[in-house]
Order: sequence, then C-alpha cells, then structure tokens
Amino acid sequence: MAEVVLKHIKKVYPDLDLKKGKNTNLKVTDEGVLAVQDFDLDIKDKEFIVLVGPSGCGKSTTLRMVAGLEEISGGELYIGGEQMNDVPAKDRDIAMVFQSYALYPHMTIYDNMAFPLKLRKMPKEEIDKRVREAAEILGITQYLKRKPKQLSGGQRQRVAIGRAIVREPKVLLMDEPLSNLDAKLRNQMRAEIIKLRNKINTTFIYVTHDQTEAMTLGDRIVIMKDGEIQQIGTPQEVFNHPANLFVAGFIGVPQMNFYDAELVKDSDGKYAVELENVHVTLSDEKQENLARNQIKEGPVTLGVRPEHLHLADKAETKISGTVEVSEMMGSAVHLHIRACGTDTIMIVQLMDLDETAGFPIGREVGFSFNGKTAHIFSRETGENLEKVQA
Ligand SMILES: Nc1ncnc2c1ncn2[C@@H]1O[C@H](COP(=O)(O)OP(=O)(O)OP(=O)(O)O)[C@@H](O)[C@H]1O
Ligand SMILES: [Mg+2]
Repeated sequence: MAEVVLKHIKKVYPDLDLKKGKNTNLKVTDEGVLAVQDFDLDIKDKEFIVLVGPSGCGKSTTLRMVAGLEEISGGELYIGGEQMNDVPAKDRDIAMVFQSYALYPHMTIYDNMAFPLKLRKMPKEEIDKRVREAAEILGITQYLKRKPKQLSGGQRQRVAIGRAIVREPKVLLMDEPLSNLDAKLRNQMRAEIIKLRNKINTTFIYVTHDQTEAMTLGDRIVIMKDGEIQQIGTPQEVFNHPANLFVAGFIGVPQMNFYDAELVKDSDGKYAVELENVHVTLSDEKQENLARNQIKEGPVTLGVRPEHLHLADKAETKISGTVEVSEMMGSAVHLHIRACGTDTIMIVQLMDLDETAGFPIGREVGFSFNGKTAHIFSRETGENLEKVQA
C-alpha cells in the first residue's frame, strides 16, 4: 500500500537575487523564496495524481521533495504511513521518469532497463523476467539489443519508463515525460500511459504544464500557481466548478471567456446575470449555491466557455459583436468576436448551422448563453462565488 500524504509541505530557496523581489510572483520571507507553500494533499493507494500549472509554479520542486532529491523545508511527507522527510531517496521505494530520458548511451536497451536491478544485486533470472515483462508491457521487446541512439524519441521514453517500472516501485513519479515528443507521438504516449496505469500496481504522481494531459490522465488534478495549490479535484470538478478565475482560465481549450457583468436579483428573488442588454436567469443549482453564500447583487466577473456560447435566434435578446477571425476546425468553427469591449471565442458546431455562408471577417453576429453554463466570480478576489466557503 502506498498512500502518499503531504502535510503543509513547503520549500524555501535561499536565493539572494530573488529575495530582493526580482522577477518573481513568489512570496519572499527572511529565509528566502517560497517556491512551494502549504501543500496539503492525500494521495490514495494506486491513485493517478497530476500536478499542473504554469512554468515556475513549483511542480518539479514538489515532486523532487517526494522523491527525496530536494530537501523539505517544512511540513511532513508520509509514504505508506511512514514519515519520509529524512529518508534518503534510494530508500523511499520510488522511481522517477524525467523529461530528458537520461538513458546510458553506451548500454543496450536491455542493460539500461536491467541497471537499477543489478544495482540492487537481484538474481539474474529475476532481472531477466522483470525486464522482459516491462518490455512486453511497453511494446519495446524487439529493441532490447539496440542502443538508445538507434531508437526514436517515443521509443526512448518507453525505455525510460521501463527502467522505472522494473523496480516495481510503490510510487512512480513522472516530470513532464512527454514534453520532448511531437504532438502526435505525445497523444499516442498519453494513451500508452493510461494503459500502463491499468497494468501496474503503483501510485502515480505526474507533472505537466499541459492541461489536456492533466485532464486525460488524472484521477484528480492539483492546479498550482506561484507555489500554492489553487484547486484539487477530478477533471470534471475542476472543469465544471473552477475555484477561481485562474483555474477557470487554465483548464479548458480554448480558454473561458470573461466579462465584466452585473449580478442582479429578479422580482421573484432569483439570481440573474446581466451583460449588455442580455439578462440570463441562473440555474437552480447556481441559485442555491449563491444563496447559501449570501452573495449580494453587484458587479461580478462572468465566465462562459467558448463551447457554451450559442448564436442567438432572431427572437432572442443577444450580445452583438463583429467577427475578427474565423478558424475552420473541420467539424466546428472557432469564431473570434469583438464584443463587450473584449475578445470572445465561440465554438460553432457546423452541423448546428442551417446556413453555409460562413463567417466572413467583419460580419455582425449575435450570441447568448444559458444560465446553467455561466460561472460567476468575485470582481475583487477572483474567487468563484458558488464555491463552498471554507
Ligand atoms: N535551486 C533553486 N534555487 C532558487 N530558486 C529555485 C531553485 N529551483 C527552482 N527555483 C524556483 O522555484 C520555483 C519553482 O520551480 P519549479 O522547477 O518547481 O517549477 P515548475 O513548476 O516545475 O516549472 P516548469 O514548468 O518550468 O518546469 C521557480 O520560481 C524557480 O525559479
Ligand atoms: Mg518543472
């Protein structure tokens, strides 16, 4: 069993340049720069956790602290119920896969994969069995006699993963393992990792800055910014109920649209949102959440995803805008519209269209949205006003 528990984990780098507040959004104290702070997470046995966030947010630092490659400045780390803060990396029963494959160029693929087991003085037959099993799982059996330079990037990354799983570690850590691969191969390898995950009994902690990877791989996703956790949840939870503007903008492609809007109450006391001359009553679920948080009328930031905007009917009141760019994606068109003094992206499914005229640049369009799909954020703090208050 390998649950991994991080309690108030923190990392301080005593960096003098940064201490002076240069080029950093991170908090700076007398000790140094807070690269990670208040990191609290309970990872279940065999769970697949993804840490995601923009460059410099502290993902690798967190992973390296779990691995034992980086000292923990504060807080507690438990693996399988045992405190690990001061346990050396080699005794943590963890394996790590890096972005650079870090294979030994002079060794065959077989020897690369066998290497960590030889270090552990495992009997030859057992080593052979494990290497062949891992190679089979990863589909690289036919390359075992080759050297790394005779393999493609994707094949090399498989070998690196193979070398990590032969040890049958309790926890498998991966830091951007696919980011050196081209887009097509990355998609393929993503699917491979999902299959791998079903074949081996390991807890996964996976780091990426790519929201698509996070959404497709994670049982739960941890979204980080400037060394702090912004939200932890399943892909569905963070997509449907983003905790704040940052998460809302980070998860989902193309990005959610944001508008300065007004939250109002209808004469029957129901919450509605007003943008230009459009007045949309919110869904029952949203009514309940806003009422529970005793949210008052007033200016808010409204968020609507591009796939949740629709072209307005003739009878419908609508937000008017002008098409600036029209991107044909095959089954859909992504329209970039200038409206409400900002840029809006709307996805129009082509099968929903009864016209074939298309959307020439400069064309006037009217659009609206449904009260189920409106996200309401505080104009001051950026917090989702529906969020259950701590
Ligand atoms: N050895 C160090 N000394 C001082 N600051 C450091 C050190 N290593 C990392 N940092 C800082 O800590 C912060 C977090 O770095 P980290 O490598 O964890 O980010 P990341 O989320 O993995 O980013 P990326 O997506 O670019 O890999 C960054 O601001 C970085 O500049
Ligand atoms: Mg990193």
